Amino acid sequence: MAVKIKKPGVILLASANLHKIEELRQLLLPFGIILKSTRDFPNGEEVDEDQPTLEGNALKKARYWNSFTGLPSLADDTGLEVEALNGRPGVYSARYAGQKATYIDNVEKLLGELENQENRKARFRTIIAFVQGEEEHLFEGACEGEITENPKGDQGFGYDPVFRPEGYSETFAELSAEEKNKISHRGRAVHSFLEFMKND
Ligand code: IMP
Repeated sequence: MAVKIKKPGVILLASANLHKIEELRQLLLPFGIILKSTRDFPNGEEVDEDQPTLEGNALKKARYWNSFTGLPSLADDTGLEVEALNGRPGVYSARYAGQKATYIDNVEKLLGELENQENRKARFRTIIAFVQGEEEHLFEGACEGEITENPKGDQGFGYDPVFRPEGYSETFAELSAEEKNKISHRGRAVHSFLEFMKND
């Protein structure tokens, strides 16, 4: 069934993370889509990301925010999958070093677990859920790379200072937001969402 988003349309991003909001706003702007976020709806509840998969968490957030605001809603969930750790931290990336872990705690835990490990291959994987009433769609984007020995750069967030995308000598945190968006897991997932809307 066709997705009816008038252009320029308004879409709600089920996130309060300023880095994500800005990244997505940049990606959607050329398509005339205005992005609202949970920051525009302070009475909304925080959705617990307690599902065992990225898909489950993304859908849970997008469903709640669609029904709360009535706006077509996008939600993403991202995991860092490290080969030598059998895909961990994956869906638990935000809470890798504990419930209240900071980005720095998580990065330190990761570097500790990979100490003396030669295989540093990793992949970021993002699932985006788009929910508009009965209509639900999932989009995926991935970015292959490696975990560096030490953090480098001060752009971006999360594991960016220790993730070097394949084919680059810089970490994500050393790239501009624009450069990161072109190759990132989230950028790719958003592009497949935009392709879907264009083709609809
Ligand atoms: P989220 O729940 O989708 O926000 O992602 C889970 C965790 O993955 C976040 O807390 C970040 O630590 C990490 N993360 C998500 N996206 C990125 C990214 O683009 N770069 C670096 N880390 C990220």
